[in-house]
Amino acid sequence: MCVSFMANDPRPYRINGSTTLKVTEERQQFLHQTTDPRNKLVHVFGALADLGAEIANKNNFHDTIRTSIHLLLGSLGIMRGGAARYAKYENELSMLAMRGMGEEFPLSLGVCHEDERQFRQNGIYPIEVAAAKVLPFYQVYCQSIERSGIQYLVPLIIHEELMGVVFVGEKASGEAYSGHDMEVICAMARHIGVAISQRNLLAELERKADENRKLYDEMRTTYKDTVRAFAAAIDSKDKYTEGHSVRVGKYTEIIACELGWAEDEVEGAAVSGYLHDVGKLTVDRSIINAPYRINAKESNELNRHPSVGYEILQPIHHPYADVPLAAKYHHERMDGRGYPDGLYDREIPFIAKIVNLADSFDAMTTDRPYKRRRPANEVVEDLQRNVGKQFAPEIVGGLFRGILREAVGETADKRFRKLLGREFMETEGLVSMLKASLNNVDTETSITLMS
Ligand SMILES: [Fe+2]
Ligand SMILES: [Fe+2]
Repeated sequence: MCVSFMANDPRPYRINGSTTLKVTEERQQFLHQTTDPRNKLVHVFGALADLGAEIANKNNFHDTIRTSIHLLLGSLGIMRGGAARYAKYENELSMLAMRGMGEEFPLSLGVCHEDERQFRQNGIYPIEVAAAKVLPFYQVYCQSIERSGIQYLVPLIIHEELMGVVFVGEKASGEAYSGHDMEVICAMARHIGVAISQRNLLAELERKADENRKLYDEMRTTYKDTVRAFAAAIDSKDKYTEGHSVRVGKYTEIIACELGWAEDEVEGAAVSGYLHDVGKLTVDRSIINAPYRINAKESNELNRHPSVGYEILQPIHHPYADVPLAAKYHHERMDGRGYPDGLYDREIPFIAKIVNLADSFDAMTTDRPYKRRRPANEVVEDLQRNVGKQFAPEIVGGLFRGILREAVGETADKRFRKLLGREFMETEGLVSMLKASLNNVDTETSITLMS
């Protein structure tokens, strides 16, 4: 009967008579034709070499074991046999490959510690079925084993650990096994044991890598949650601009995304936005909450917050290097009229330019103690007017593109709608204004948005 298998089929392979492995088929024919012991030896060495090559090939573990059993049976002209892998924690031998052992043979066999102990004590030598009767597991499966025509069990012991068991039936010729045959069986079983051991090591490595990945993800989530909690703490100091840092974090994230930044860079940009005003934690609450335009002295005190923010963030080891720079320079302007250092265009870190725009955009679109939020068209006009003075054109382009894509329904998410409200997003003429502005501020803009 011919059974076909998919590449990763975990079922044991019941090897059929017409093998697909050409080299072994030739060897098998050769074995039957020759009685010269030297030729047999050459043949067996050839099979061992093939087995070595199979084990070195890490592509498919199940294929390796199937081929290995095929080579073992084929090289000595054995009618039936198979290999099982020992799952230590499940106390189970699960069949990986079988040939001629019958459909009834169980695919997994439970073993106990006593079986394992006795197998380890025996080492990698064939155990005759009659001698195996003392093993607890044999007593459970004696009928299946005897019905299958198995004559020997070979425990696969590698570094004193049980890796599995090879089952070997009678020879096709009906001859008894010679001492030399037994040596060949042991050598080939050792190869199969090594293959299983390698596979176990690999599985353990994969498990560890998976564990590390999960740990890393958890740490990342914790970091993000901490940053957000921090942003909320900064915002709680300012009763008029509730949620400002959180919104700036979100706008910064959207702009970075629109500029085509990689996922981790976008994450870093969001963190920079969330923490940009961390320096305000040291500014007197009465200045932050002043319900009037603050005087020069108060303004000086407030304007220290970028430098203070940098001092707070700089010693912390962030996964994203730009976070302290964004805090320090988020009030700089391209025309050099910003603070604290009055930097010009190229001197300002790019992330600080993004946060600057996100910060200003939020200030324009939310109510302040001395100023009402401004209508959408005014905001767009204002930002456009300040391109090249305060804002970099490509960054304004990123923000406009994000709003426009949402306004025309090109994106399913409603990020701006949630942050700005329906009224802002449905302002009459907003879409055409954004398209026109994009033509002016960003020559790189996709043509599809311009239609
Ligand atoms: Fe600020
Ligand atoms: Fe701010």
